[in-house]
Amino acid sequence: MQPILEQMMQRTKTTFLSEHCEVEGHEKYQLMKLSNGTVLCPRCETERKNEAIEKKNEDLFERLENRLRHAYLKDKSLVSDKPLWDAGFKNYVAEEEEVVKNKRYINILVKRYLSGEVFNTWLMGDPGVGKSHLSMATIKNINEYGAKDKKCLYISVAAMLRKIKSSYGNKESIYTEDYFIELMGEVDFLVLDDIGSESGSIGTDKKATDFVHRVLYEIGDMRQGKSTIITTNASWEELEGLYDKKIISRLRSKIELIKFTNTTDKRIGGCLNE
Ligand SMILES: Nc1ncnc2c1ncn2[C@@H]1O[C@H](COP(=O)(O)OP(=O)(O)O)[C@@H](O)[C@H]1O
Ligand SMILES: [Mg+2]
Ligand SMILES: [Zn+2]
Repeated sequence: MQPILEQMMQRTKTTFLSEHCEVEGHEKYQLMKLSNGTVLCPRCETERKNEAIEKKNEDLFERLENRLRHAYLKDKSLVSDKPLWDAGFKNYVAEEEEVVKNKRYINILVKRYLSGEVFNTWLMGDPGVGKSHLSMATIKNINEYGAKDKKCLYISVAAMLRKIKSSYGNKESIYTEDYFIELMGEVDFLVLDDIGSESGSIGTDKKATDFVHRVLYEIGDMRQGKSTIITTNASWEELEGLYDKKIISRLRSKIELIKFTNTTDKRIGGCLNE
C-alpha cells in the first residue's frame, strides 16, 4: 500500500476488511471499515459522490434554464401597468357566480395548454371584470409549469402602440411594427391584451387600428399551430366593424370563449371587499 494512503488510514482509523465488494465490476475492491463502524466499498463511495455532483449540476442547469424562461416573459412582454405582473390565480377572488364558473373553466383550459393542446382562447366582457388579470395568471402558469422549450409572451396592445409610436421619430428604436409582428409570430403562447380599445371611445385612431388589424391577420397566419389568448372589451359585432370581417370570423372559429356578462367592475370596488 502507498505510504500516504497507509498514513491516512491510520489517522482516520480506517481498516481494510478481507471481503470484497459484491457489486458487479467491483470485485477487486476490498471493503473498508471506518472508525465509526461503517463498512463501505471505496468504488461505490466514489460513484455515489460523482452521482451527487452530477445531480447538483443538473439542478443548477435546470434552475438556470428556468430563470432564462422566466426572463423571456418578463423581458419581452409589455404590460400597460406594472401591478398586472402580480395577477395570479391565488389572488383572483371568485365570489360571484360567473367569476366562479370562469375561474373553473380557465383552470381546465390551463391544464389543456399544459398537456400540449394547441387552441385559442378569447376573454370577452366589459372593462374591469378581470380579463387582463386572468390572462396574466394563465400565461404565468404556463410559463412556470409548461414545457421548458416553450416561449411565453404577454402584449398589451395599448403599451405596444405607445412603443411603436415613440419609435416613429427615433431611428435607434428597435420597437418597430415589424419587431412586434416577428416577436408575436415566434412565441408558443401569446396573450394579446385588450384589442379594439386602440380605436378610442370617440372617433377612430385609424393608424393604430390598421396596425392591430395587420397583427390580427398575422396571428391568423403565422400563429397557426400555436396558442393565442386574446382579451377584448368589444363584442364580435364591434370587432367586425373595426377590422376585416373575414379575419375576425377566422379568428373566432374553433376557440374557447370566456365571457363576462354578469360580473361587476372590480376597478370601482365591486364586491371584492364586501
Ligand atoms: N376576481 C378578481 N379577484 C381579484 N382581483 C380582481 C378580480 N377581477 C379583477 N381584479 C382586479 O381588478 C382590476 C381590474 O381587472 P382587469 O383584469 O384589469 O380587468 P379587465 O382587463 O377586464 O378590464 C385589476 O386590478 C385586477 O387585478
Ligand atoms: Mg384589461
Ligand atoms: Zn462497490
